[in-house]
Amino acid sequence: MKKLIKNGTIVLEDKVIQGDLLIEDEVIAAIGQDLEADGGQVIDASGMVVLPGGIDVHTHFNIDVGIRSVDDFSTGTIAAAFGGTTTIVDHMGFGPKGCNLHHQLGVYKGYTNGKCVTDYGIHGVFQDINEDILKETEVMMEDGVSSFKMYLTYDYKLEDADALKVLQKLKEIGGITTVHCENDAIIHYLRDKFVSEGKKEAKYHPQSRPPYCEVEAVDRMIALAKAAGKAPLYIVHVSAKESVDLIREARKEGDTVFGETCPQYLVLDESRYDDPEEGLKFILSPPLRAKEHQAAIWEGIKDGTLQVIATDHCSFDYHGDKQNGKDDFTKCPNGAPGVETRMPIVFSEGVSKGRMSLNKFAAVTSTNPAKIFGMYPKKGVLAVGSDADIVLMNPDMEVTITKNILHENVDYTPYEGIKVKGWPVMTMVRGQVVVENERLQVPLGFGRYIYRKPVQYTELLK
Ligand code: URP
Ligand code: ZN
Ligand code: ZN
Ligand code: ZN
Repeated sequence: MKKLIKNGTIVLEDKVIQGDLLIEDEVIAAIGQDLEADGGQVIDASGMVVLPGGIDVHTHFNIDVGIRSVDDFSTGTIAAAFGGTTTIVDHMGFGPKGCNLHHQLGVYKGYTNGKCVTDYGIHGVFQDINEDILKETEVMMEDGVSSFKMYLTYDYKLEDADALKVLQKLKEIGGITTVHCENDAIIHYLRDKFVSEGKKEAKYHPQSRPPYCEVEAVDRMIALAKAAGKAPLYIVHVSAKESVDLIREARKEGDTVFGETCPQYLVLDESRYDDPEEGLKFILSPPLRAKEHQAAIWEGIKDGTLQVIATDHCSFDYHGDKQNGKDDFTKCPNGAPGVETRMPIVFSEGVSKGRMSLNKFAAVTSTNPAKIFGMYPKKGVLAVGSDADIVLMNPDMEVTITKNILHENVDYTPYEGIKVKGWPVMTMVRGQVVVENERLQVPLGFGRYIYRKPVQYTELLK
């Protein structure tokens, strides 16, 4: 069965063309001018930008952090699809203490089975380190898990010696270490100090996790990766300007370091904590920063220091569990939603405002995450033979973001009232229309698990 996307502005990896894109079965069969549908469906894309489907490599669906996040793999991937994202890679949460990685992958297969409407992968996440767990990364790789996250804070933080073991092991097997960088001791010290002084409003959340707290951890991780023989390292949710500088320097020295940022750090700032009630919506870590950091992050995207914009979608209801923090910010579950708004916000703030080209947009929202996380060229690119994961973006459509138009299963959006220009109007996964005309067109369970592959990371640095 063929489908023809006709007369669109098609964003290829290195150029943009006006033309047609032919889909046969699940893959892209041809890209060019005056293609024929051979009796198949014709989709008129005049005035539309045709992009590789978004890939969000940082979500926490159905995660249990003592409190369970409210988006599971059905509402999470539905929201993703409405927002122009065709693949997500989720971070598996923790099992009971001592639980092995592979067991937890099985738990996540249970969570995802029959639920997803987009394709999906899973990142392994370390809860603690021993020889067995390190060895298990090999089995995980065979099961399509090519990336593993470690936290340097929270109850499951890893010490430097263990972080080194992880870096070295994953380098050996062609995987990549991803890391949440914040200095745990500083956070605990400052939090305890604020709480003991009765300073418990939302605005003390960012003050207890200042930029230097992230920057120290980024610096340390870069050093550890260097020690492990330039082991591949991916720093999630970069929010501070000095972190961008450190990553830029490391890359200049030939280190295999990649950086991710998120829309919240590009369009929201720490003034959101001024209101002690509303401020709870923005309790996420690292916290929102002073405005001056935003320009540095845009610069990092522009010069290639940061390769990926993902979301860190981790949703808790404002009128529900977020209220745990009403009298004490330290009791508020960390995280905010964003899986549905990433593509329009980045398109609007990036492309529509002239900060990035269409090619750059495709790179940071789709191609680069596909490459770094072992899905390219099956995913992340409009090319013959690749999966027909496609989003049609109307570049002129103006929308004011408000909770009521979104499909995320959470009672607020941090982007309430933000106006965007550019909105996804059709989302296809493997040639199948998943969302069109504001309607979901596939049953739950349509999404497939992606077996991600080992990557030659030094090649990606070129
Ligand atoms: O506050 C956040 N970001 N919660 C989700 C977990 C994480 O740190 O990535
Ligand atoms: Zn277990
Ligand atoms: Zn994190
Ligand atoms: Zn996260």
